[in-house]
Amino acid sequence: MEQTYVMVKPDGVQRGLVGEIISRIEKRGLKLVALRMNVISEATAKEHYSEHAAKPFFPGLVGFITSGPSVSMVVAGKDAIRVMRAINGATNPVDAAPGTIRGDFALDVGRNVIHASDSPEAAAREIAIHFKDSEIGNYSRIDEVCLY
Ligand code: PPS
Repeated sequence: MEQTYVMVKPDGVQRGLVGEIISRIEKRGLKLVALRMNVISEATAKEHYSEHAAKPFFPGLVGFITSGPSVSMVVAGKDAIRVMRAINGATNPVDAAPGTIRGDFALDVGRNVIHASDSPEAAAREIAIHFKDSEIGNYSRIDEVCLY
C-alpha cells in the first residue's frame, strides 16, 4: 500500500476543518495509519519546506506553519499520493476545482488549508521528518478485506 504525508495546516485547524478533511479522506477509501496534532517546530518546518528555502515566500511560509497547531497524518491506500493530491486540488486555491478541499475552503496560496506529498520521494522524505516508524500503524480497513 502506498503511503503519503498529509498536513492540515494551522488555518485548517483554526477554521474547524479537521473533521471535514479526515472524513473526505476516509470516505474516499484511504486510511489513516498515523495521526498527530502539534505545533511544528521552526527547524522541522524549514526541513519540510527546504526545497523552497530560496523563495521569497519561505520566511512567511515557515512563520505560518509554526504559528499554531497543525494535524500531521500518514495516509495509505492504492495510489495514495496521486489520490490525496486530487482530493486537495490545485496548490493555488484560485485554480482548485469545486469539490476539492482547496476549491471548497480556500482562496489564498499562503492559506491553502492542507498539504500532501507530491511524489513517492517526497512522501518518503516527509513521513520520515514527521513520524518514527513505530508511530505508523498497520491494519486493514474492513472494505479492504474480502469477506466471502
Ligand atoms: S513553487 O514556487 O511553484 O515551487 O511553489 P508552490 O508549489 O506554488 O508552493 C509551494 C508551497 O509554498 C506555499 N506557498 C506559500 N506559502 C505562504 N505564502 C505564500 N505567498 C506562498 N506561496 C506558496 C504553497 O502553499 C505550497 O505549500 P504546500 O504545503 O506544498 O501546499
